[in-house]
Amino acid sequence: IKTNDEELNRVLGGGLVPGSVILLGGEPGIGKSTLLLQVSLSLNTNVLYISGEESQQQIKLRADRMGLSGENCFVLSQTETQKIFQQIQKIKPDLLIVDSIQTLHSNHIESGAGSVSQIRATAGELIQFAKNTNTPVILVGHITKDGNIAGPKILEHMVDTVLQFEGDRNHIYRILRAQKNRFGATSEIGIYEMISQGLRQVTNPSEVLISEKEEALSGHAIAATVEGIRPLMIEVQALVSSAVYGTPQRSSTGFNAKRLNMLLAVLEKRAGFSLGSKDVFINITGGITIEDPALDMAVVAALLSSYHDIPILQKICFAAEIGLSGEIRPIAKAEIRIQEAEKLGFEQIVVSKFSKLGRTPKSIKIKAFSKVENLVDFLF
Ligand code: TYD
Ligand code: MG
Repeated sequence: IKTNDEELNRVLGGGLVPGSVILLGGEPGIGKSTLLLQVSLSLNTNVLYISGEESQQQIKLRADRMGLSGENCFVLSQTETQKIFQQIQKIKPDLLIVDSIQTLHSNHIESGAGSVSQIRATAGELIQFAKNTNTPVILVGHITKDGNIAGPKILEHMVDTVLQFEGDRNHIYRILRAQKNRFGATSEIGIYEMISQGLRQVTNPSEVLISEKEEALSGHAIAATVEGIRPLMIEVQALVSSAVYGTPQRSSTGFNAKRLNMLLAVLEKRAGFSLGSKDVFINITGGITIEDPALDMAVVAALLSSYHDIPILQKICFAAEIGLSGEIRPIAKAEIRIQEAEKLGFEQIVVSKFSKLGRTPKSIKIKAFSKVENLVDFLF
């Protein structure tokens, strides 16, 4: 079943599979209910949206705010599974949404809602319903502080697909990822923007994730990353400054802090970078987190640029992993990255000398290096 949300379809591996059970996890306030209400209201088939957290009035207000209404979307505020199943019998939904699994309770179980045995029992009843009637079911799951879906780990094994909705609540971007998917790859991501009318699909992520600026600034470098099969140009910002208060600070937003320390050590050894007395800050713009090793070289370039206070030309981007001895290593899907960079008007892309490249692109120059030292010579 295709939803009208292309980002969601892609992450699901094409759309909702009949009879499948999807668990959608995410921190409170990230936009899970918003996403699912949007999807429910845009489908032309019967949807039953069960909310154990919000009243029907609240949900209606939210729909009004998003400017959406739907003839086929039924909303029920209810937490008792026996009563929920009575409504299911009446409405015979083509899609069932439960927001959230932790609020449900089954009369057959003594313990309170949200307890391990309740979650296991209520999820079990819903999964059985999905399989018996071939109806897709989406369960919302709350996330604990350490990032796991609260309740037993077993919930993740019971369902077919586990999606994670992430992002920084202070930024507008949200990323939808598949952690497990019986029906598709787990490497795809969906990108959204949280605006006052709800979540908007971001179809040109590369363009929005690069900040607008009038002139080249030091400490900025663009990485040509890939998530799944989707290229994403991402801006890395670095600030290297003299530490005033004793122990230098290392701070990283959107980039693995251990990886940052490793890159700093490589720079110290290979590029005459003395960081003993420097504060170092790294920031990936847009508040998103990407785990592509190809970010390494952009991080290094941004650090060096800030350290020397020399801007990097705006039309250069980077895609390579850096090894422990300062070697520049090739990354997967180099061609997709080069194509995207070319499409967005970049004039040069820096890659590893060992990248396996097919055709030579027309309007972008490929710079290939094997060592960090060479990169330093090239940039400054
Ligand atoms: P919500 O979907 O309730 O999050 P979750 O179900 O994951 O807990 O989203 C809550 C936040 O989204 C809330 O802080 C307000 C914001 N928001 C918008 O910015 N625009 C909107 O149109 C809507 C509906 C919510
Ligand atoms: Mg919610």
